[in-house]
Amino acid sequence: MKVLVATEKPFAAVAVDGIRQVVEQAGHELVLLEKYTDRADLLAAVADADALIVRSDKVGEDVFKAARNLKIVVRAGAGYDNIDLAAATAAGVVVENTPGQNSNAVAELVFGMTVMAARNMYAGTSGFELKGKRLGIQAFGQVGRNVARIAEGFGMQVSALDPYCPDDVMQQAGVHPVHSVDELYSDNLFVSIHIPATPETIRSIGYDLITRMPKGGVLINTARKEVIDEAGLDKALAERSDLKYVADVRPDNAAELEQKYAGRVFFTPKKMGAQTAEANINAGIAAANQIVAFLHDGTDRFRVN
Ligand code: 3PG
Repeated sequence: MKVLVATEKPFAAVAVDGIRQVVEQAGHELVLLEKYTDRADLLAAVADADALIVRSDKVGEDVFKAARNLKIVVRAGAGYDNIDLAAATAAGVVVENTPGQNSNAVAELVFGMTVMAARNMYAGTSGFELKGKRLGIQAFGQVGRNVARIAEGFGMQVSALDPYCPDDVMQQAGVHPVHSVDELYSDNLFVSIHIPATPETIRSIGYDLITRMPKGGVLINTARKEVIDEAGLDKALAERSDLKYVADVRPDNAAELEQKYAGRVFFTPKKMGAQTAEANINAGIAAANQIVAFLHDGTDRFRVN
């Protein structure tokens, strides 16, 4: 069977080697489409693929129409908002993700950006330390848990909000559970966002929440740009000159925000939270193993549709 790896933002070469090994050892063929810029290239490449591995690549109805042999798509990563699940289900294609495989990489970047914000974007002016400060984690999933683990090393006081996670799971991790988003934003100098982009969460973080943050508040977003109400963020930053926003998910109005709030906002040029060799290896090889298992006997433990 043909397994296509289609990645606009490629995996590290070492991860591709690992994926190839898993696929070929199981008797399948690996086809690689990296750094494609023309969607037609993706549609041509999927035409005879039985399985597909992607990252944040958009997999919509056009792909399912073009891919007549496709049986499974694995998103090598956590968020699968880039995949049209209804179109996949209608086409009889299984969709899976690889939860947890890249979460440490994202959590480490949270602190890369948190320290940067606390040290005034490395401008050389007097900043402040993370030790003893309060950090609120919005969603205690795999990334949120890694953030909490690292925050403990910094000596931070950590709270988390997650309606899907029992309090005792947080408490066992030394994290104080909170039960309202208002409380999370009001009580924490730092808030780190780890919610997925869903109809309920899209544009859910805006002016009202952001301006609840205490003086000097720093909002860190390594999740999805869509969860932010960008107009509300702009208004909050305009009114509160003490607030900072750092994100690995560049907003649509990034250039405007960078110009208006220089020194208070930072955006990575391209989403790089999961862009480490380790995360690429973990997520890529997990995706390959999941495909091999599925093609072998229909195992679909990580199915999301
Ligand atoms: C994820 O959902 O796993 C992360 O956002 C990483 O996305 P990426 O594979 O495009 O880097």
